[in-house]
Amino acid sequence: MGEMNLKMLLESQSLERCPFPIPTGWFFVDFSDQLKTGEIRNVEMLGQEWVLFRSESGQVGMTDPYCPHLGAHLGHGGKVVGENIRCPFHHWEYNTEGWCKAIPYGKVAPPIIKKQAILRTLPAVEKYGMIWVWFHPKCEAPSWQLPHIPEMEDEGYTGDRRGSWPVHTAIQEVAENGVDFAHLKFLHGAAGIPPAVVNFKDHVIEIDMAGGYIVGKGYGPGLNVFHFTQEGVSATMISYTQPITLERSQMNMSFRHKDYGAGTREAAIAKKLVDHMIGAADGEESAGFESVDFIVWNNKKYRPNPLLCDGDGPILQYRKWFKQFYADGDLSKI
Ligand code: FES
Ligand SMILES: [Fe+2]
Repeated sequence: MGEMNLKMLLESQSLERCPFPIPTGWFFVDFSDQLKTGEIRNVEMLGQEWVLFRSESGQVGMTDPYCPHLGAHLGHGGKVVGENIRCPFHHWEYNTEGWCKAIPYGKVAPPIIKKQAILRTLPAVEKYGMIWVWFHPKCEAPSWQLPHIPEMEDEGYTGDRRGSWPVHTAIQEVAENGVDFAHLKFLHGAAGIPPAVVNFKDHVIEIDMAGGYIVGKGYGPGLNVFHFTQEGVSATMISYTQPITLERSQMNMSFRHKDYGAGTREAAIAKKLVDHMIGAADGEESAGFESVDFIVWNNKKYRPNPLLCDGDGPILQYRKWFKQFYADGDLSKI
């Protein structure tokens, strides 16, 4: 017997569950129709609390909660006044880009308010009927834009099924599933390990599994669009996971497909495809993420130096690709 590698045997004690910073990218906040004009709401995501509001003209603001004046929390007693959010404490007002637009007393305003935003806000857009924000730990501007998704934006598509699931792990761990092809057989019960082709290009990852059965793209950490195709019928899973804290994420998904017409064979296949993505479709042995992935995600630790075999997917290439979204923080354990 060779010499025992004690370091290997004891390594799991020092592993962490989620040694990742909050990544950069576009992230879903809420559905547009859930935020009314003049409404203010406190939102926990991206590792901190934010104040979300909609101005009188309909602009969305997502701001740091603490007033640059004396630190009052804008989301407790604050109010939307025209295009601005007004602090409850001394009524300073900030627009959706964080510029101080009014100080209703005093003769000399701090000169900085004319030069720059003084309240941190996240760039926000509304697309697909949703509110999205761009997160960058050092407040850099968006380096890419959200893609056009025909299923969400064009005529001729249907599907109101969607879901939201809390998961106790970081977003990188959740998304690693997309390139972990071996687990599809052993955890999900697929008939075999599907052949797959993966491409990484800038902020986009492209995956083609089982010769076109599942074809999808990930756009940064916060948006994935996967098409499942069977017998010429496609259904699309749009997934938009939110980092909440360093160790908690919220998985959200919408399921859409062409409007094949009620009662048609195509509509039945599309429904089955969607059933299959979420749980177990009628008469199938395999299981979607709802029934099996959480057991693993909620309890695992992250191994920065995994022992891999040749049957594994491109796990390390995926991790290297994902690293581009960590613009700040300690990366020594990933
Ligand atoms: S603390 Fe906000 S206006 Fe004074
Ligand atoms: Fe999975």
